[in-house]
Amino acid sequence: MKQQGLKDAFGRVMHDLRISVTDRCNFRCLYCLPETEEASEFYRQQKADPSKANAKKPICYSWKPKSEILSFEEITRFVRIAARMGVHKIRITGGEPLLRRGVAALISDIRAIPGIKDVALTSNGFLFSRYAQALKDAGLSRMTFSLDSLDPANFKKMTGRTGLQSVLESIALAKRMDFDPVKVNAVIISGLNDHELEALVAFGRDAGVRMRFIEYMPLDSGKAWQREMVVAGSEMLERIRQQFALVPLEQAHAAETAKRWKHADGRGEIGIIASVTMPFCQQCNRLRLTSDGYLRTCLFTHQEHDFKTMLRGQMTDEVIMEKLQSVVWNKESGHNIGHQDFRQPQRTMSSIGG
Ligand code: 5AD
Ligand code: SF4
Repeated sequence: MKQQGLKDAFGRVMHDLRISVTDRCNFRCLYCLPETEEASEFYRQQKADPSKANAKKPICYSWKPKSEILSFEEITRFVRIAARMGVHKIRITGGEPLLRRGVAALISDIRAIPGIKDVALTSNGFLFSRYAQALKDAGLSRMTFSLDSLDPANFKKMTGRTGLQSVLESIALAKRMDFDPVKVNAVIISGLNDHELEALVAFGRDAGVRMRFIEYMPLDSGKAWQREMVVAGSEMLERIRQQFALVPLEQAHAAETAKRWKHADGRGEIGIIASVTMPFCQQCNRLRLTSDGYLRTCLFTHQEHDFKTMLRGQMTDEVIMEKLQSVVWNKESGHNIGHQDFRQPQRTMSSIGG
């Protein structure tokens, strides 16, 4: 039976599945897993209202036990089912996906699934050089790295690790090995790395990569996010335009999250992802599978759908397809960050995947 596609009640059709293969990470980004003293110190300094002072001390985070994490067989089965229903784009995320042994083999298996046209990987870049060739051999071409600072001290403050040099080398290696595109995410936070915005743009232009400047979203494990820490996409663009000649780019597809520009005089491009100030929920075509087998229809949802039990039980693919269709049909219209009644989800970005 030919499937009609995974449609929700608002007419959106899901094509894009993000799969977190592990909730573990070797970094402690201040906007994600803020477990360092420096992170606590930053949040302490930002609090005008001490009653909101979360992240007072480093948070102890417990990783999911291995038995709860989906096996590669379970993941590929899920992808095969989703692909039969029209999903054609896969992004492998974490935590840090390269901490999961054998990710290259998983990518190779996913690429071989009929209907899958595009597989990408998001990594913090620290371990990339070790696995670059295996990833290339597995047929991966699209790489996204995270790089929030070009200053070693600020990089350490933001990620909790002294890994700037490794990440820069990884980005350069990915370019040399012709990964295409190479994207670089930077979360811009007021009072922390917003002064580096222009330097990051220049870095992207010189390196010939696609920079993605992302508004800080309330998905940090310390629940210390505050609206005042968000640098609005419009403000970023205004500042960038004062120094760089930019030419707007057409949207690659309707569900694209970034507004994009290319440099008039250089390689590379910039994109701004304004998830907080200009949500793009109306065009959202994404689903997220957590490493422990729950499906999320929105980054900010409070409701997760257990597919692990189904994948581990005796359910046929057809039963799982029906469940998937009904979960997607009920996808929420959008998130409500900024509204009075917004509540941060329990899960943090590290266990959802970007
Ligand atoms: N807000 C915005 N982006 C985030 N990321 C992680 N946590 C946050 C957050 N709280 C992004 C990082 C990383 C990607 C996986 O998710 O840029 O590159
Ligand atoms: Fe790790 Fe990525 Fe979270 Fe940073 S943003 S702590 S690299 S999962």
